[in-house]
Amino acid sequence: MITVVIGTQWGDEGKGKIVDLLAKDVDYAVRYHGGNNAGHTVVIGEKKFFFHLIPSGIFGKKSKGLITNGVILDLSVLTEEIKIIEEQGIPLKDRLYISPRCHLILPYHRALDVAYENARGDKKLGTTGRGIGPCYSDKVSYNGIRMYELANWDLFKEKFAFQLGIKNKILETFGVKPLNLEEELEKMADLRKAVIPYMVDTYQVIKEAIAKDEKILLEGAHGIMLDTDWSPYPYATGSNTVVGGVNCGAGVPDRKIDRVVGIVKAFTSRVGGGPLPTELHGEIADSIREKGHEYGTTTGRPRRIGWLDLEAVKFACEINTISDIAITKLDILNGLPELKVCIGYELDGNTVPYSSCGYEELARLKPVYKSFPTWEEDITGIRTFADLPKNCQDYLNYIQDFLGVKISIVSVSPERDSNIYRQ
Ligand code: IMP
Repeated sequence: MITVVIGTQWGDEGKGKIVDLLAKDVDYAVRYHGGNNAGHTVVIGEKKFFFHLIPSGIFGKKSKGLITNGVILDLSVLTEEIKIIEEQGIPLKDRLYISPRCHLILPYHRALDVAYENARGDKKLGTTGRGIGPCYSDKVSYNGIRMYELANWDLFKEKFAFQLGIKNKILETFGVKPLNLEEELEKMADLRKAVIPYMVDTYQVIKEAIAKDEKILLEGAHGIMLDTDWSPYPYATGSNTVVGGVNCGAGVPDRKIDRVVGIVKAFTSRVGGGPLPTELHGEIADSIREKGHEYGTTTGRPRRIGWLDLEAVKFACEINTISDIAITKLDILNGLPELKVCIGYELDGNTVPYSSCGYEELARLKPVYKSFPTWEEDITGIRTFADLPKNCQDYLNYIQDFLGVKISIVSVSPERDSNIYRQ
């Protein structure tokens, strides 16, 4: 059984919690794209864990974690996460495997990310500053360095020195202090020793798991509206967040995927710049942000808030062939003075689909809204659909009918067991 979990909006849909739920009995939990720009939160009892690189499904009873070739790795973040998990009594040796094909986020990628953003002035994209764009651009321009190269230290040093020399010249043109080769190599030497024991050909692990019919859970990062190709580019991230990323980023053949779970937050949020058609300002946005703790897991930035954008989510369902939906953070809508969803886009008097819009159109268009009656009741303790307030049921049923995809899970609080399951 192969399941993929995908965020259908602008990231931060609450994937971590749903992955943790679905990972209970899986054999492998897999991260297959992106880097430590992602942040997944898992709450277990009193403890809160923030993952940036290690698959959030690692807490499953028997799950092993795979970080496959599509992921880009900042080794200082990775080693820190390994330490935090091991301190919880979960040894990761022989439980976490990292593909030698993963590209490395190197110190000059982080410096370049920040330098480019500063140079953009008031046209900043709002990246996480983690070196994501510069690392992926090195990957596709044949200037990247992979995990695999760490095994041959002399070769690594040669490549690193060559790249650092070039990057320093670029940094200098931005007026940024160049990086010191010796200092950076010293840090890399320590990190290298810590991560080499985890290197394994993850393709073979996955191939054998498929042959044995084992359970694999692939965790998508970010969200569909940040996909390099399908976002309002350049307000994008550097990887393909659509389900196609599973094939190139993990080596799992498309036709082996059994289930694609789409995570839909009951409203919209976004960090960083770019158009957000249903964006809200004022009291409702502030109240949703505070109640929902809508601050970036990775950067701590306040998230922009909007009504649920079903036009965008419908596109996400289509392009990913989503089999079923998990609705998250429904409880945050309790007691709102009004409630709306966007059911289409209107541009210059015409109806336009999400896929026809670039960033300029998305910023200009008028969302078409449908209003819903609200509910006052606290729904966090409810565990069956029938016990939900009628207005809340109507809201969910409308979403399900509009998308034409079944809602299988409704999450009503961050706690691990606060869910409503629908057959
Ligand atoms: P980058 O991925 O750091 O290059 O940032 C590009 C854009 O994607 C910025 O708007 C980020 O805020 C956004 N972004 C990247 N990863 C995530 C995520 O996991 N959740 C939400 N937004 C993200």
